[in-house]
Amino acid sequence: MSDPVPVLTIDGPSGSGKGTVSRLVARRLGWHYLDSGALYRAVGLAAGWAGLDLSDPSALVRCAFDTEVRFDETAGEEPRVIVNGVDATDELRTETAGAAASAIAAIPEVRAALRDRQRAFRRPPGLVADGRDMGTVIFPDAPYKVFLTASPEERAQRRYKQLKEKGVSVTLDSLLREILARDARDASRTVAPLRPAPDAICIDTTGLAVEAVVERVLALVAR
Ligand code: DC
Repeated sequence: MSDPVPVLTIDGPSGSGKGTVSRLVARRLGWHYLDSGALYRAVGLAAGWAGLDLSDPSALVRCAFDTEVRFDETAGEEPRVIVNGVDATDELRTETAGAAASAIAAIPEVRAALRDRQRAFRRPPGLVADGRDMGTVIFPDAPYKVFLTASPEERAQRRYKQLKEKGVSVTLDSLLREILARDARDASRTVAPLRPAPDAICIDTTGLAVEAVVERVLALVAR
């Protein structure tokens, strides 16, 4: 029997640097990349477009099955995310989309509806899977698992800088409050709460440059 396709899971809270690190690591390894948060955001967005009630699980489960999500890759650029045929890349990054994603992600049936779709990203030569439960639930057999953290203040700062660069006006204070609220919701939900897999290597990225984190993660895969 051939060896299973290797998976490197990178989990952690938003702003821990996992998106940037995962993309760079996937590029360096020449592996595929799964942005599982984008799937949850896409479903949250599509639910909003359809005017669905965020407290109606059965409608949201249908939405999770029906929402078409495509990642359009152009070499060297961030992939565009196409939701039901519409380029939603920018809209997906808004705090509103993040909050909708966090709300629907707390529904066990929605998570189950997205499970196989996420596993289908596991293709040769390997996969870097970025999310909250990649190492604990979706790819528990992954040979490489990383959990990234950073202080809430640093995560708010990073997000603030990103949004500023995009010309979005926000206050650091409101971002910090949103991050703390989202952390609490993601960590306290009963299904797939945010926590490191027992066999994950934890890296605190507070004060670390992206390149330093990338090198530490790559060293793990090279071992
Ligand atoms: O990583 P992100 O900020 O794009 O994720 C958006 C929301 O989706 C986040 O609040 C929690 C949820 N999510 C999840 O529950 N499980 C994942 N694997 C990825 C994201």
